Amino acid sequence: MPIPAHLFVILGGTGDLAARKLLPALSHVLSDGAPCEVLAVGTKQFDDDSYRSWAAEQLEAAGVTETGDWCGRLHYQRIERNGFDLGAVASRIEDLETEFDLAGNRCFYLALPPQLFEPALRSIGEHRLLETDGWHRLVIEKPFGTDAATAAHLDEVVHAAADESDVFRIDHYLGKETVRNLLAFRFANPIFEASWNRDRVEEVVITVAETVGVGSRARYYDRAGVVRDMVQNHLTQVLSLVAMEPPVELVADAIRDEKVKVLRAIRRVDRIEYGQYDGYRDEEGIPDDSTTPTWVEAEVHVDCWRWQGVPFILRTGKMLPERKSKVEIRYRKPPVTLLEPEGREPRGNVLTVTLQPDEAFDLSFEVKEPGEAMRLRRTKMGFDYADEFPPFGDAYETLLADVLSGDQTLFVRADEVAESWRIWEPLLDPTDPPTEYEPGTWPS
Ligand code: BG6
Repeated sequence: MPIPAHLFVILGGTGDLAARKLLPALSHVLSDGAPCEVLAVGTKQFDDDSYRSWAAEQLEAAGVTETGDWCGRLHYQRIERNGFDLGAVASRIEDLETEFDLAGNRCFYLALPPQLFEPALRSIGEHRLLETDGWHRLVIEKPFGTDAATAAHLDEVVHAAADESDVFRIDHYLGKETVRNLLAFRFANPIFEASWNRDRVEEVVITVAETVGVGSRARYYDRAGVVRDMVQNHLTQVLSLVAMEPPVELVADAIRDEKVKVLRAIRRVDRIEYGQYDGYRDEEGIPDDSTTPTWVEAEVHVDCWRWQGVPFILRTGKMLPERKSKVEIRYRKPPVTLLEPEGREPRGNVLTVTLQPDEAFDLSFEVKEPGEAMRLRRTKMGFDYADEFPPFGDAYETLLADVLSGDQTLFVRADEVAESWRIWEPLLDPTDPPTEYEPGTWPS
């Protein structure tokens, strides 16, 4: 579908997110001459020309080489650091809309530190920036609140400025190609869906392992910790896509209705273990006595007919031996063991969806080794993206294209955020200091 004429406003246009993700993704999404101008808003001293040069450097650093005259569509509006008043932005928007005949369609992307979400939203409301004849959309980055109460408060502020149908809460995991493919895999392949339940599945394990540490985000991370940073959003979103019932149709609210039912059926977290990598407290900006967890393993149950009794294990952390995100559906063993594998326990089949890197779907199973003896060997059937498809775009490209076409499917609805905070809030911070683990090892 062609992208309609619009103005794309980035609040936080000189920040890290704009530089690393938004500008590169926009330069792809808006590369085909879609009638769009971009207004970057920031506190730094740029004018249009110097912003364009800065943006060109960021695009090059991100590996985007063929931009033609795309940077010519970028405009810059400086605002004062104090007070977050968008008055100057309001008149600039009107000028640009008249000059480029943009029909009043506006998208605001809040690429800001979370403490600026509220002042930004209030100023958007005050200057009626979302009250035009065209469409208007509001894109908000995570973290959406720091607990249930702050998220509920932020929702009030959001809804004072915009209708929920215009709000796009980003969870970039939902834009990942393999995460989206979970829906296609489940609902286009009845053979798997038939076994996707408590009768056949013993447990589901969702792992997001990172090799990096906190890097330059010490201040944010030490206050957030791994549950707020990764579990409450990314892992919970993946869980809800794995566990949800088929929607009545493949449209945003039907899908989100099913996802939120999964979250409502998680009554509590049954088990949780926290870890902190050795050396975390020596990182710049981290207090010597920090008890912020950098690793977590949690077990939850989805109390519904399909999943009754099946543990869902969520594991994620920093400074682990490998960078790998995957979902494992671990099937039950045969009910009677007629064939004992030599030197190991009998195992059920495992379906592994590798979300990143080396995106793939694999099903492990047992075969008989050639020869007289009935000897079992574990092997797998698989599908690798790299063998079948050319490289595909970044999650932000998918998500921005969806924002511009008005499709909310891959964005988190207010009730999903609220349910997720309800589940995780009692466990955001450990009561005892987390167990230490060596960087480059799995916490045991
Ligand atoms: C972010 C977290 O949301 O996701 C980071 O704040 C984390 O701490 C990142 O590193 C992981 O994303 P990805 O796409 O690299 O798996």
